[in-house]
Amino acid sequence: MTQNEMKQKVAEAALAYVEAGTIVGVGTGSTANMFIDALATKKNDIIGAVASSEATAQRLKGHGIPVLDLNEALKQVASLSVYIDGADEFDGKKNLTKGGGGALTREKIVAAASDKFICIVDETKRVDHLGAFPLPIEVIPMACELVIGIAKKNGGEPKVRAGFTTDNGNIIIDVHGLKITDPRALEDELNSVPGVVTNGIFSHQGANVVLMGTPDGVITIE
Ligand code: A5P
Repeated sequence: MTQNEMKQKVAEAALAYVEAGTIVGVGTGSTANMFIDALATKKNDIIGAVASSEATAQRLKGHGIPVLDLNEALKQVASLSVYIDGADEFDGKKNLTKGGGGALTREKIVAAASDKFICIVDETKRVDHLGAFPLPIEVIPMACELVIGIAKKNGGEPKVRAGFTTDNGNIIIDVHGLKITDPRALEDELNSVPGVVTNGIFSHQGANVVLMGTPDGVITIE
């Protein structure tokens, strides 16, 4: 089974977490795109979706799935029932690295507004320690060199993502070479730096459930 076939299976499995009459938070990336395509089969059952990026909003709309602004959604419901998204890495405690597609800030906001985060990944994303995948940090451009210096002090090799601007008008610094032994502490430390919008460690907003695609089928990690 190819990686794409495993992604397809977990995307379809995530449909089981979509409840009728609710608003669904939807992530960004190739696995999330497969989920959006599957969600189209249930579009008449749900109120709509909140998108974690402009790209996701466009794909949802392309299927005729109503897209709600998060603030409008939270005037209708106390929280979104579920947030469904991929990840770049996950560890044994369901901590995640996200932001390979640069949508980490909106992803973290929508995840925080949701009762449950269902993470849809293939087995290649499983790691013992986060850090093999470069850690994305969304940064207000003025703070670029400040954040580069702090990333170096933490033992990383920061690189500004070339030619990329986030949906919020900021830059991404990808930090290579980190071995992240305490994800929550590093998430907090980096987020405390002025000019950091957020970083791609999802420990506070880790997954509640990981659906992991394998050649033998989908494994549910709770
Ligand atoms: C987007 O910013 C990311 O957080 C994605 O969730 C992550 O990169 C996973 O993407 P794929 O599903 O394309 O592997």
